[in-house]
Amino acid sequence: MKKIAVLTSGGDAPGMNAALRAVVRTATYYGMEVYGAKRGFDGLIQGDIYKMKSYSVSNIISLGGTILKTARSVDFHAQEGRDKAYEQLQSRGIEGLIVIGGDGSMMASDRFSKAYDFPIIGIPGTINNDLYGTDFTIGFDTAVNTALDAIDKIRDTANSHDRIFFVEVMGRDAGYIAIQTGIGGGAELVMVPETETSIQDVISTLQAGWDRAKSASIVVTAEGNAEGSAIDIAQKVKSHINNKDIKITTLGHIQRGGSPSAFDRILSSRLGLNAVEALRSGKKGVMIGIIKDEVVYTPLDIAVNTPKPLNDELVRMVEILNS
Ligand code: F6P
Repeated sequence: MKKIAVLTSGGDAPGMNAALRAVVRTATYYGMEVYGAKRGFDGLIQGDIYKMKSYSVSNIISLGGTILKTARSVDFHAQEGRDKAYEQLQSRGIEGLIVIGGDGSMMASDRFSKAYDFPIIGIPGTINNDLYGTDFTIGFDTAVNTALDAIDKIRDTANSHDRIFFVEVMGRDAGYIAIQTGIGGGAELVMVPETETSIQDVISTLQAGWDRAKSASIVVTAEGNAEGSAIDIAQKVKSHINNKDIKITTLGHIQRGGSPSAFDRILSSRLGLNAVEALRSGKKGVMIGIIKDEVVYTPLDIAVNTPKPLNDELVRMVEILNS
């Protein structure tokens, strides 16, 4: 394989640039040409594709976001869009594609790869850590560290005012960011979509803390909770407890930005390098991942459609460590 393309798609995640750097540098090392498509699949459709050189990725390993920019492409959902994207690749003689993105991007890649029998390797890039076939996705570690930093600060003010804080973190339908942030930040309770936690459970946990003379509490809530957002949950709790000062913080997109952690830079570099080598060895239609420190390949549809349950031990830990 002599010519490949790379793009970043879906929500940006810290470490995407490090992965991109590894792709470009590895391809260059093997004497291959690399093309970068701007704004994910939209750039591919529109032919916004440029040749990348080793220097194109200089000094980006420490940068958050993605220098290629990203998008959640609507046009790529339509046959016409996918046909155009295929023509753009064909007309440039591009023989393989590396897609760095989350579950939506892996799903779109699977469809495209099968329909045109086009070699694609997916690299899991999402703060959500919700892709099966890898222990960790690019950006998750940095997002957890960012959220933890915020929780530490919130605890200072929560303690000073004897307040209850409901802190909402991202993760879409998954509770990975919430559980790790909650454990790392010593939260009194973590509400994740994977486990049912009723409003009564929240009240009982808070009450048990007050009975032990706790004056401040932090409840970390995942955005995909059945009980709704942190605002919804706080309102429901407030209607049962009116003698406590309740505050709400939604961390939002702060979790998506910032310089990637050491863990994310190394993970991204490893995935990027191995993705190019996978294309060279004839692999296609798979997502690359790392499980127990080994590089593994999972068919794209399986990576997207197989649930990745939270580690039960982590869920159990919160209750015990808060007792
Ligand atoms: O998929 C990453 C993510 O940050 C999710 O955690 C969140 O639900 C979503 O993207 C937010 O998307 P957007 O930036 O398009 O609002």
